Amino acid sequence: MKPVEAVFDAAGASVPRVMQRVERRMAEVSVDHGAALARHAGETIAAGGKRLRPLLVCLAAGVPSPESDTLVHSAVAVELVHGATLVHDDVLDASLLRRGRPTVVASSGRRMATATGDLLFSRAFAELSLTRSLSAVCALSRASSELALGELMQRSDAWSGDVTVGRYLERCRLKTAVLFRAACELGAIEGEGPMDTLGTFGEQIGLAFQLLDDVLDVSGPPERTGKPQGADLLDGTITLPLIEARARDRELAALEVRDLRTATDARAVCERIAATGALETARARALQMVAGAKSILPALPDRQRAALDLVADGVVERYS
Ligand code: IPE
Ligand code: IPE
Ligand code: MG
Ligand code: MG
Repeated sequence: MKPVEAVFDAAGASVPRVMQRVERRMAEVSVDHGAALARHAGETIAAGGKRLRPLLVCLAAGVPSPESDTLVHSAVAVELVHGATLVHDDVLDASLLRRGRPTVVASSGRRMATATGDLLFSRAFAELSLTRSLSAVCALSRASSELALGELMQRSDAWSGDVTVGRYLERCRLKTAVLFRAACELGAIEGEGPMDTLGTFGEQIGLAFQLLDDVLDVSGPPERTGKPQGADLLDGTITLPLIEARARDRELAALEVRDLRTATDARAVCERIAATGALETARARALQMVAGAKSILPALPDRQRAALDLVADGVVERYS
């Protein structure tokens, strides 16, 4: 059974029904905004993705009613913010591939990618406004501005030889974990559940998710990740594997990341990082975060608890 099927199985029949409605709604939201933008935004949405954040909205809502429009609006809004961020992130990171396909910036340039991301952001908030929940809008807008801060922090720390673990973790919190938090908060608002605890659960698994994404960037392989190995190194993004490896390998400590030019250079550094055991250390840290996240979940209905546990485990399993 695929991980998502196991989650559906644990969560009960209403969750896959809500997720189908989310999918249908997402297909609708990019139309009517001019052919070019609708094409790029539509393709971004249709290119798939794991839909992890809308799933978290559903699961944090408890046992959702498949008829709930506000739940669908919230889940769609979070996934649209995610899509917008990815399109903009690929501009900032100069990434060529996303979900195994050319990025919008690679296929159509920076201006089109910026506008496509902007459209997705604005559609996200239009969608969320349909819930008429001010707390939901506050939660998602806080996450969106923190996300932007995280992306800026990543650029300002680019190529730097002295990014600390603490600063790295703060960047991951901002650029990734806050949206996982918001997903869980929106679900909690819908289901009138414990917003703080579910939000913290989301933040912790989001943090682990980013750590493991950064491990995958070093370990590859591209067929599995949909992105070239060592892409973070080539765009100057200093992540936990390199920070850990630098403390163990003098040559890596002295390495000027800026001097890496080619995919072959980057792959060689990836091998060297892996040889230090830094990937295992980073993975272990992520595993600990997931275990911590599961341990703080409050008393919840059995089905909800089991499904959230499975999502947390899925974050790890996909990457081990
Ligand atoms: C990618 O997120 C960006 C990171 C936070 C690492 P996902 O891996 O959830 O992206 P999709 O939506 O499944 O493609
Ligand atoms: C996550 O960072 C992207 C955002 C949260 C915006 P990455 O830059 O590591 O994500 P990928 O590797 O491009 O998917
Ligand atoms: Mg990126
Ligand atoms: Mg990455």
